Parts: sequence; C-alpha cells; structure tokens
Amino acid sequence: MRTDTAPTPTLLSDYEPPSHELTSVYLDFDLQPEATTVRSKIEVKRLRDEPFILNGEEIELKSVKIDGKVLKRSAYKLDQEKLVLAKTPESFTLEIETVCNPKANSKLMGLYVSGGRFCTQCEAEGFRRITFFPDRPDVMSVFTVRMEADMETYPFLLANGNKTESGAVGKGRHFAVWHDPFRKPAYLFALVAGQFDLLEDSFTTMSGRHIPLEIYVDPGNAPQAEYAMDALKRSMKWDEDAFGREYDLDLFMIVAVRDFNFGAMENKGLNIFNSALLLADAESATDMNFERIESVVAHEYFHNWTGNRITCRDWFQLCLKEGFTVFRDQEFSADQRGAAVQRIKDVRALRARQFAEDAGPLAHPVRPESYMKIDNFYTATVYEKGAELIRMLKTILGAEKFRAGCDHYFEKLDGTAATIEQFLKCFEEATGEDLSQFMLWYQQAGTPILTVKRETVVNQQRIHFKQATKPTPGQPRKSPVVLPIKWQLVGDNGPLSEPQLKLLKHDATSVSYPAITEPHSVSVLQDFSAPVTVRSDATTEDLLRLMAADPNAFNRWEAGQTLARQLIASLAKAIESGKTPPVDKALKGYCEALARTLDDPKFNNAFKALALTPPAPMEVLQSLDQSDPLAVHEAGKWLSRAVADYLRDTLLDRYHALTDTGAFSPDASSAGRRALRNRCLALLAARHDPLAATLAQTQFAEATNMTDELSALMTLTRLGGQRVETTMEDFYSKWEKNPLVLDKWFSVQAMRPHAGGVSSILRLADSTRYERTNPNRVRALVGGFAMGNAELFHKADGSGYSFFTDQIIDMDSRNPQIAARLLGAFEIWRKLDDKRQVMIRSELQRVINSKPSKNVLEIAKKTLGE
Ligand code: TRP
Ligand code: ZN
Repeated sequence: MRTDTAPTPTLLSDYEPPSHELTSVYLDFDLQPEATTVRSKIEVKRLRDEPFILNGEEIELKSVKIDGKVLKRSAYKLDQEKLVLAKTPESFTLEIETVCNPKANSKLMGLYVSGGRFCTQCEAEGFRRITFFPDRPDVMSVFTVRMEADMETYPFLLANGNKTESGAVGKGRHFAVWHDPFRKPAYLFALVAGQFDLLEDSFTTMSGRHIPLEIYVDPGNAPQAEYAMDALKRSMKWDEDAFGREYDLDLFMIVAVRDFNFGAMENKGLNIFNSALLLADAESATDMNFERIESVVAHEYFHNWTGNRITCRDWFQLCLKEGFTVFRDQEFSADQRGAAVQRIKDVRALRARQFAEDAGPLAHPVRPESYMKIDNFYTATVYEKGAELIRMLKTILGAEKFRAGCDHYFEKLDGTAATIEQFLKCFEEATGEDLSQFMLWYQQAGTPILTVKRETVVNQQRIHFKQATKPTPGQPRKSPVVLPIKWQLVGDNGPLSEPQLKLLKHDATSVSYPAITEPHSVSVLQDFSAPVTVRSDATTEDLLRLMAADPNAFNRWEAGQTLARQLIASLAKAIESGKTPPVDKALKGYCEALARTLDDPKFNNAFKALALTPPAPMEVLQSLDQSDPLAVHEAGKWLSRAVADYLRDTLLDRYHALTDTGAFSPDASSAGRRALRNRCLALLAARHDPLAATLAQTQFAEATNMTDELSALMTLTRLGGQRVETTMEDFYSKWEKNPLVLDKWFSVQAMRPHAGGVSSILRLADSTRYERTNPNRVRALVGGFAMGNAELFHKADGSGYSFFTDQIIDMDSRNPQIAARLLGAFEIWRKLDDKRQVMIRSELQRVINSKPSKNVLEIAKKTLGE
C-alpha cells in the first residue's frame, strides 16, 4: 500500500557526486542550552551547474548570505529537510545563521545536553541538526570552530584538531578556537563544552612525536578512566606494529557522556564515549566491562585510519570503515587476550546477532543497496559480518599479501571518500589476485549453508563440500561465493594431517586423501574460516573425538557446541510433545568430554568457561522451524542441569580452588579464573543444589569486585526464594549513587523470573528509579527484557509482547533511533509457533498505526515483510 506520505528510499544506484566543493568551513557557536546560535561561513566552489542542496532538520534559519549579501526569501527554497540554492556563483562565500535548542534535543543526534554539558553526535546524519550543510560523507572540508560559553558552567571548550586560541570575552563568558587541518566529512565533527575532570597521559609515536592524551570524565571519575587510558596507549602502539599506522594530530582526546545512542564515536581527535564504555574499576565494573572498554577504545582509535583518513563515499559503504575497524579491534583483542578465546567470543556474538538477522525479515547485504533511515543499518551484518569478510580476505590472500594490500589501500586512498570496489581493487593491485567473486560477499544477504559429506572410495577417502544460500527479502536467487575452508584430519590422539585450506568457489567441490585405517574425523572450518552454517555428516562419535583431540582450540569448542545444539534441539522436541527427555549416550559422552576439558592443563580457564557455556537457546531456535521458544528455553536449562548433575563434585571443587586471593587485576588470566569460577556456580545453581544458594549468598556478601558480586546476584535471582527481593534492594541501596551500576541492577531485574510476571517489569518501568530518556537505562530494562527474559517476553498470553510494544511506542516519541533498534527483537517472529506469530504481527501493526518515526516505521514494515 502506498500513501501520499510514504517516504521514498535512498538507493545506491542513485548516487551522484557532490555538485559543490567546500574549500573551508568556519563555524561559530554561541552556546546557550535552550537557544544556541550557529553562524557558518563556508567557502564554496561549484563543480557542476546544479542547485546547491544543504540539509537541515529541526533548526531555525535566521539568515543566508552569499558573498556578504543577505538572500531574500524568494532566492532559496526551504522545507523541513533542506535548504536549496537553485543558482550559485562559481565560487562564493556562504554565510548561514541558525538557532537550535540543545536542551530539547531528546534524539541525542546533533548538538544536545547531557548531564549539563554540551556534546554532539553527528554520524550518520546529525550535523544537519546543527546547521544547514551538505551533510554527506563525500563532502569533505577543513573545519575551524569557534565557540563561546559561560565560563563557570562550561570551563572546558573542546572540538576537533588543535586549539589555536582561547580567552575571556566578558560577561562571565569565554571562547576557544579549534582548527582541524585534516579534511573531513561533517559526520566526524564534534564539539564538547562543560565541567570535567581530566586524566592526562601521553604517547610517543613510532616517528618520535609526543602526543598528549586527555580523557574527560564527570568530576570525581578520573581514576575510573585509567583502564581506558591504558587501553588507548596499547591501541596506539598496536596499530603501529600490526598495520604501520601512526597517529596524526598533535593531541588526542576522549570525552565520556552519560546519554549516548551507541557505544562510542570516532570524531577526529575527539572521540566521544558512552560512559558505560569508558569508566571502570574493580568494585563497579565486571570483567566483561573491562574487555569491552578495551575493544571499543581500540575500535574508535583505529577508525582514525579506517574511517577518518579514508572515509566512506556514501552510507552504503558503511562496512568499508566498520567491518574493517571491527576486524582490527578483534585482532587487537586476540593479541591482548588470546586468539582462541577471542575467536570463540566473536563467533558466539556473530551467531547470536548476525545469523539471526541474516535468517530473518531484516536480512540485508553487508553493503545494502537501499535504505529509508541509515540509522537502521548500523547492524550486526554491516559490523560483524563485515569484519568476517575482511578476515576471509586475509585467509584467502595470506597474512603477507593481506598486509601489502592494506599498505597500498592506506597509501592510495588516503584523504578520500572511498567505496568497497576501490578497497578491493587495492588488494588486487597489490597482490595480483582476482577478487571479483569476493565482491559477492558484500552484495548477497543470507548465511551460506556449507554441507560436508564424507565418502570412502576404494583406497581413497573424499570430503564433499557443497554450498547453498536460502533466499532473503528481495534476493530470491543466490550465486556461489568464494568460501575458504580450513580443515584437518583428527584421530583419537591428535592430528593426522597438517591443516589445509580449500577454496570452495562453485556450488560444490571435494578434497581427497589416502584411506586411513585408524578411526578419525574431519575438523572442518577451523577458526571459523568463513561465516557459514555447517551441516555435516559428523556423528556423535566424531564430535566427541573432536572435543577430545582437535588441535584447533576453536574447533574443539565448536564440536561441543554442535553436540549441545543437537541435544537441546531434540530435548526441545521431546518437551514440546510432552515427553520426558531421554538421557542418552550422546548426553553422557558430552558430559564426559566436558569433564576431560575441565581437567586438561592445555586449556586456560577462560576457554574452559566457554566450553562449559552451552549455546544460547535463541541460537538453537534459529535452526528449528516454528517452535515454542519456551520449550527450547526449558531444554537449555535441562541440559545445564544434566551437565551439572554429572560434574557436580568437580564443579564444587573448582569453585573453591579458583577463589580469588590477592589484589584485583582485570587482566585476561584473572578474568578467565573468575569466569570459570562463576560458571561453576551458575551450573551448580542450575541443578538447584542447596549448596549453590549458600555459596552465592556468601559470594554476594564478600565480593570485592563487580564480576563476583553481579554473578552471585544473578545466580540468587535464578534460584528464587524469599530473600531475592531484599537482596535486590540491598544491591540497589549500595549502588544508588552510581548510574552505571544501577543499569546493571535494571538489567538483572529485567532478566530475572518474577512471581508477578510482566506486571513486575511494568512496575519497574513506571518507577521513579527508571530514566526513560537515558538510552543505557532503556537498553537495560526494555532490551534486557526482550533479549534476556525468554520466559516473560514470550509468555503465552502475549503480555510480554504487548508491554514491549508499549515501551517502543513511548520511546519512539523521544528517541526514534533507540526505539527502532530495540524493535529488532521481533525479527525472530517467523521462527515461533503460530499463536505467537499472530500476536507479534498484531503488535507490529499496532506500532505502524501509532504514526511512528521513519526509523521505527522502516523496521516495523520490514519485519512484517512489507
Ligand atoms: N561510528 C560509530 C562506531 O562504530 C557508531 C556510532 C556512534 C553511531 N554513534 C552513532 C552510528 C550514532 C549511528 C548513530 O564506533
Ligand atoms: Zn565503528
């Protein structure tokens, strides 16, 4: 159905280069919370005889001047989204004065106020909420920024680049001028003004340049930024060592803000972070927080080359910077924390979020070809699958050629706004390889299914590989992609061959090896060498052999996951049909293999913790057709319980042996120890071991770090009982003053079973403790509920879905970006049983009827398949 108001999508095929070039941009901000005046002065050169289009949203236009002369109202066109100058001179000075209201800016895009401070978020299309401007990434310019604000309320005035001037201007106000010598698109612009504490350090680059490093945080929080500072210095060094990339400006700054739509933003020289991804100390942050801070600090820093020096021609090329940068941060984390464990975590996240996206109604290629709102395309596909593509490129080319390609890319495209085609061409030029088929990975949505079958032919053994990708919305037919398959033969005592690399380029291929009499299995897709779903003829015996003897640590873990997925799926079927799940040979073998892994000194604690973590129920749901999500959930719990029954004494033993002594350290090995210990506790709780409650209670009371405190709390909520409510309140009062910990409190509340059902969650959302304008808080409660509380979200009476929908509609009126993102939780609907499908469809219809934002409308319609 089309109505008059139906917005039109933006298409990659419609791309046209900019009509005007900006030689320089000067911006002058008179910062006032409710009425900030922005005066821009832009030197423009006309490239083609076309109208000059400047985007602008929710800002008030005061005046437009060309070469000093005020334009009459008839000389330009103005609507809700743009200012159009039909005819312009060949080169001219454009001056525009606008007013915006940062305090009323609840979308948190453009210039807004957070915690009494001014800050900005311009990616992707936020700069147009600050001033009228050709707000597209291929329009780059040199920016000079002057800002003026009240001296006492806003002692720090920051922007991109280097500070060139500052001083008082009278009436208690002061100013600063910042100049960024590097040409950049408007989405990398940033400005910050306010009161902060400052953590200072420095880094000496590979060519000996001394770079001051500054992290700006809420007064009193500077010590909590020390870990981020350390991560920053390690990132700077790593980028020099691994990619030969040196920092370019004379200063690097990071600012933490409480209200932020995403994790962080790579603005040139002035990264802005969600405080949740910057602040940490032993007492208030979990090991997972430390780990994420390290990777996001690295991610944003790495963008300086992959994103800022070389940016995107248009937003369809978003993966050019995001996929590459995620790959870089994953490699960094692997070097810092261990490759196998890092790979397992990355693949777990990929499967949980990206595979779900690829299999659902929101599936899109890594480089999409159309969008309504680009905000909706900051997805797991663009980021995480985008990173997998870079990883495959490296696997296919080999490390040396890959590095040569990167060097050539950085050299050739520096200072430009590039495309994926240009990126791949650099690798072709540097290596002589033909990468034309590789491009398909960027164009085709959907997760390929790799089928593996073994065959014995006289004295030869063969492995047949086949690929196929199911249709996705708008792409009924798929072509074969180039698929790197790392494989190896494994016997009972370890490898029987070297690891091999086979490229599957067509529908099918096979490899063969001389017959081996010794019992053996094939370890396929080692290190997850391609982002595909494997369907293999591996038997339970094969999987158990690989769990015990695969030299590839990732695949050892993977064999256990495959077995666990199969177990959960068959248990779920049994539960759905009302039967008691059987205790069979596979289950026993699985438990025995886990026991051996636990005892194996070759593996570190972090690996063992991951081996003991079964696949998420929702991951299993992906592979089933129209099932009751609660049956899958029950099956998952049942499996954990069976494992815990089998391993009970070992778990208890380990739990005690791994007890922390000495001072807290967030390093990988200490974190691994805590992870395994808390995993043991969670498993003991899964079998409702009476001892588990006692252990958790003691751990909660005595914990000296947040990892242990929060794990104990979560375990206690799973165990239930009368003390849960008081324990939750104790935790609340202890942390009342720390909003980041209160977010954790809200997510535990959102995810725990409640005797009062969904109405308990509703009560939390209505309480004065909740902050509906803060994205972190909303993600904790609404996101935690939808993604982490299967029992209540998928409750058979539909009360979970309807509460969730109410929250989305309410959120959408303030912050469409966050609302649209959360609405993604419904993408699973086609995998569910008929009754739930009907309920979710009607909730999505309710969203559409609520006159939602463009962001939410796009997601709701696509989720419904419209
Ligand atoms: N470029 C940012 C990153 O990946 C993502 C980001 C931060 C973002 N804030 C945003 C994207 C707001 C869209 C809108 O690091
Ligand atoms: Zn990024």
